Amino acid sequence: MALTLNVNGTSYTVDVEPETPLLWVIRDSIGLTGTKYGCGIAKCGACTVHIDGQAAKSCNTKASAAVGKPITTIEGLSPDSTHPVQVAWTEGDVPQCGYCQSGQIMAAAALLSKRPNPSDFDIDSEMADNICRCGTYQRIRRAIHRAAEIAAQ
Ligand code: FES
Ligand code: FES
Repeated sequence: MALTLNVNGTSYTVDVEPETPLLWVIRDSIGLTGTKYGCGIAKCGACTVHIDGQAAKSCNTKASAAVGKPITTIEGLSPDSTHPVQVAWTEGDVPQCGYCQSGQIMAAAALLSKRPNPSDFDIDSEMADNICRCGTYQRIRRAIHRAAEIAAQ
């Protein structure tokens, strides 16, 4: 079945079953591999993208559910990696192995769009679904505070 999805401002028509996970469409049909597969059951956050500006786990989102809504992946967060979260992540040297980090960045960006100056509690509760096997949580928290500062400048 042909579905048309808007990803990072570009329209893609893909031939997939409507219930195909959006993650597979993003990675395999469209070829944007920055969004990662971790658990496949909405428990790790590695596959986080934005749908209509909200953080969403693309592994348990049906492709058909994203039709007509703007989808943003890590590749489209900013044209030149200058989104405040990306700048703060680089400054804070946040990633270790890196596998979880595109999901972390997308979740952090969605958090800051809702709460421009989040508390530690806000960060811990909003980011709780994004797991990091390397335990970079302290750096993630610091970087989100720093991103809030950068965005306010
Ligand atoms: S791969 Fe989607 S939440 Fe883990
Ligand atoms: S940096 Fe390795 S899983 Fe998060």
